[in-house]
Amino acid sequence: MATIKEVAKLAEVSTATVSRVLNENGYVHEETKARVAKAIQQLNYKPNDVARSLFKGRSKMIALFIPDIMNPFFPELARAVEDMTQNHDFTFILCNTDDDPLKETEYIDALQQKSVDGLIIVSSTLTPEQLHHVQIPVVALDRKLNNGVSSVTVNNREGSREAVRYLKSLGCKRIAHIAGPEYVDNAKERRDGYLDEVQHEEWFQLSMVEEGQYHYDEAKQAAMNLFSRHPDLDGLFVGNDLMAVGALKAAESMGIRVPEDLSIIAFDGITLGETTSPSLTTMAQPIYQIGAKAAEMVIKQIEYQQTQTQSEEFSVQLIERESTAGRRRET
Ligand code: RIB
Repeated sequence: MATIKEVAKLAEVSTATVSRVLNENGYVHEETKARVAKAIQQLNYKPNDVARSLFKGRSKMIALFIPDIMNPFFPELARAVEDMTQNHDFTFILCNTDDDPLKETEYIDALQQKSVDGLIIVSSTLTPEQLHHVQIPVVALDRKLNNGVSSVTVNNREGSREAVRYLKSLGCKRIAHIAGPEYVDNAKERRDGYLDEVQHEEWFQLSMVEEGQYHYDEAKQAAMNLFSRHPDLDGLFVGNDLMAVGALKAAESMGIRVPEDLSIIAFDGITLGETTSPSLTTMAQPIYQIGAKAAEMVIKQIEYQQTQTQSEEFSVQLIERESTAGRRRET
């Protein structure tokens, strides 16, 4: 692999001149630039990106942190971030953190050492102390980090209230909820939206709320617990689509017909929800839009040193499919 010294020798200039041409830093005569460019082409020289980033302080890299690569929501989110960052000539890096603060810290340290230009972070565990060590642009996506960090989220609580009102409009009289992890802010917001709509109902009991951890297996077990404890349930609001697939499996295993006996609505709008049988009614997040918006925000911070904090909240949209049925009453 050719070195910068070989390029300088062939172009009959100093290595400092070659660096100035590569980093577009300082005056170089046009004829000299042409000689250096020709030598680079002839030797097929590839500049050392780490050296260049050290010189310019930029690597043209943007990293996305996600907490659970096994949840289909996050690859759909990553698709949008990758498209937007690549359209702006940034290299996209995907980091799966498992919501593990140690992994998050290791990724932050390693990426800052490689002069990554910006971070887009989905996290419910990053602490203010960890954020304090981040000296580059950061945008919080899907879950807020703190008031000083720009964010892109959706209207979790209002969207969840709409989901439960929709079940009521179908005639549901006993509605339960499978929630995501308590330490995740949007899971708590969705639970709160559910409680807003049911806690004053004479039939409501706190035992109608189960934890599903945003995972399929835990949600399947949670649904079986609910169906055993409350056999008169006719409506279920689930905090994300992946858990709702577990609830569908639980209903099937217990001979509960969806939607004839039980209407199920979830939250996210991932493609998987179209493929289940019955297909899944959900409150769809504009997944591509929020990912692209977060990327746009971090690029603006990088390119224009934009420092004021921005918070964008998008609205979710009801997607009616086969897991809910019945006449919609005028409410
Ligand atoms: O399905 C994964 C969940 O975690 C989604 O609802 C998304 O909002 C993320 O927070």
